[in-house]
Amino acid sequence: MSTAPRYDVDPRKFADDPYPDLAAMREACPIAWVPQFGATLFTRRDDIAVCEKNIAVFSSDQPGGLMNRLMGQNMMRKDGEAHAAERHAIFPTVSPKTVRDHWRARFEGHCRRILDELAPRGVADLVRDFAMPVSAEALKEITGLTNVAFADMDVWSQAMIDGIANYGGDPAVEARCNRATAAIDAAIDAMLPSARARPDPSLLGVMCAAGMPEESIRANIKLAISGGQNEPRDAIAGLVWALLDHPDQLAAVRGGAVGWLQAFEEYARWLSPIGMSPRRIAQPFEFGDVSFEPDERVFFMFGAANRDPHHFADPDRFDVARDVSKSIAFGAGPHFCAGAWASRTLIADVAVPALFERLKGLRLASGRPLRPVGWAFRGLLELPVVWEA
Ligand code: HEM
Repeated sequence: MSTAPRYDVDPRKFADDPYPDLAAMREACPIAWVPQFGATLFTRRDDIAVCEKNIAVFSSDQPGGLMNRLMGQNMMRKDGEAHAAERHAIFPTVSPKTVRDHWRARFEGHCRRILDELAPRGVADLVRDFAMPVSAEALKEITGLTNVAFADMDVWSQAMIDGIANYGGDPAVEARCNRATAAIDAAIDAMLPSARARPDPSLLGVMCAAGMPEESIRANIKLAISGGQNEPRDAIAGLVWALLDHPDQLAAVRGGAVGWLQAFEEYARWLSPIGMSPRRIAQPFEFGDVSFEPDERVFFMFGAANRDPHHFADPDRFDVARDVSKSIAFGAGPHFCAGAWASRTLIADVAVPALFERLKGLRLASGRPLRPVGWAFRGLLELPVVWEA
């Protein structure tokens, strides 16, 4: 156990709204031992930005960890050369050029079709009816699993996320995760022959073309599904909500004074869809006046870093006009989100502008305050809206 000061959280309250505790930690004990998570939490932006790059100490290799056991060892659980080789292999799928020349048109096609179906209805839950299918259709394209139903992507992603956070060992959660990974393996089995015969720019295609071992291909496809479905879903719905809730800022974006990308980056800072990334201490280490022992668990709290008042004035305020260059919503080290370019294009170039363009008079319907949930992953569970059909 590290020598960091102890800070207790109520896990239920923390999941409802982690920001008051994160602010208190950042202020009083920016490196804090939280017994409820069995982990030492880093909450200051600059500490995270420095330590995340020190992979000799803050290792992503977590042998025996739940992610490795349930999903196979993917690139996010590797360090150094082993990690770099897999990142290099998937670059042709996620590069800015491939996103611009290949994926963007496909994202536009899916959004158009989904909005065509939605527009005459005049009422919807935009999490379920827009953000979820848009994110899933994009992920089907990117992974190469175009043979699956979009709703399955969402169910599988959630089942794996729950499985890898199942520190209490609930057998029902583990069984659901195992069913999801088995279904993904079956979908991969069905697509592998064509991906090998005619490689395309999808993850499956480029990993086959790179000659990656099959177990790594499977593990990385599962990683992309677990991490690549709920974040764009939560960011699409969350950005729409934040803009509808701040009409003056929506007007600034729609009028062109602020770009859609800037608005998305501010949303990702303000309500970081991934609030945390875990590491294992690989060797004895001292940072400030805190000592760490090997095999301890550390959480880099991106959600806290992105509200660090040292870098962001009035950090709890959603403000599309602010400077977001210090945001680390996509990470701050070698594991920087591989899907960042695809996400920016999907959310800020395609999905959210298309939604506002198509659904005239869009407004919040519920009349009651909406509350995002979660701290490792944070987003809205529903977004009821109406518009002029
Ligand atoms: C709003 C959307 C998204 C956000 C905010 C986000 C955020 C993140 C964060 C914070 C990390 C960990 C970075 C670190 O530990 O330094 C990460 C890693 C990763 N993300 Fe994303 N992500 C998003 C969408 C996606 C999508 C759509 C995909 C898939 C196509 C994806 C694939 C990955 C992969 C493969 C990694 C691991 C990279 C590595 O280990 O080198 N992400 N993401």
